[in-house]
Amino acid sequence: MEFLDIIKTRKSVRTFDGRQLSDNDKTKLTVFIENTANPYGIPVDFVFLDKKEHRLSSPVISGETEYVALKVPKTPHCEEALGFSFEKFVLYAWSLGIGTTWIGGTMNRKLFEKAADTKEYEIMPIVSPLGYPSKTLSWIDKQLRKHVHGNDRLSADVLFFENDFSTPLKNISDSLEAVRFAPSAVNNQPWRVVKDGSRYHFYEKHMKSYNPNSPWDIQKIDMGIALYHFIAISGGNLEISDPCVKTDSDIEYIATVNV
Ligand SMILES: Cc1cc2nc3c(=O)[nH]c(=O)nc-3n(C[C@H](O)[C@H](O)[C@H](O)COP(=O)(O)O)c2cc1C
Repeated sequence: MEFLDIIKTRKSVRTFDGRQLSDNDKTKLTVFIENTANPYGIPVDFVFLDKKEHRLSSPVISGETEYVALKVPKTPHCEEALGFSFEKFVLYAWSLGIGTTWIGGTMNRKLFEKAADTKEYEIMPIVSPLGYPSKTLSWIDKQLRKHVHGNDRLSADVLFFENDFSTPLKNISDSLEAVRFAPSAVNNQPWRVVKDGSRYHFYEKHMKSYNPNSPWDIQKIDMGIALYHFIAISGGNLEISDPCVKTDSDIEYIATVNV
């Protein structure tokens, strides 16, 4: 499958068929973690957790036998780094027929933090079940997909701009199309991109409930996912150098990719 097809066909899997990951697949995933570096140079720790051994669960997940928890040192850009690194893993898993769901809310966080031996200097914002997708979806899976409009994405004209935020971009490249298909918390799709020649400035549109004092910003994880999709297809380089494009106060500059 082409990489863009992997991006476009991936879905959150919340209903699994009850099978344990095969030893072969587990080995592939474990080896792949070596390839999940991110351009921020921040190490992301993947901790595999057996569901039964640690008595783990999520109210929206069924049929799973295993989880992976993602930990990162609490440092500037740690959320984007985590988003970037874990999305690499998510797409690789999907290419092997293994399902995942980014879970940042619907879990007993204390239980997962303890199971993953989370230290004071770390945060563990995301866990995901790992397993083989069931052919049928559970009731809660169907309801949740419907509630967040999980199959829908915003159209390019409200996401991508040229030079400033008033001119929608006309030609949408595959790398921007890949951004559009990225998964995000509550399917909020916070990414906005302004093209300026060969430079693409990425911005986060904060949701209404955004609290700058919370221990981490979940939408910056979404931004890391979008940046991975864009860089994986365009081959561009990440820089952080705010071009000071005029924006609304709920829009924050995140990074620039030079292609
Ligand atoms: C950072 C992040 C956090 C998420 N947290 C949850 C969660 O707590 N529970 C859940 O069921 N889905 C969660 N999701 C999955 C999104 O709801 C899902 O990606 C979105 O609705 C789009 O659907 P899709 O992944 O099937 O394309 C999260 C996704 C991201 C990227």
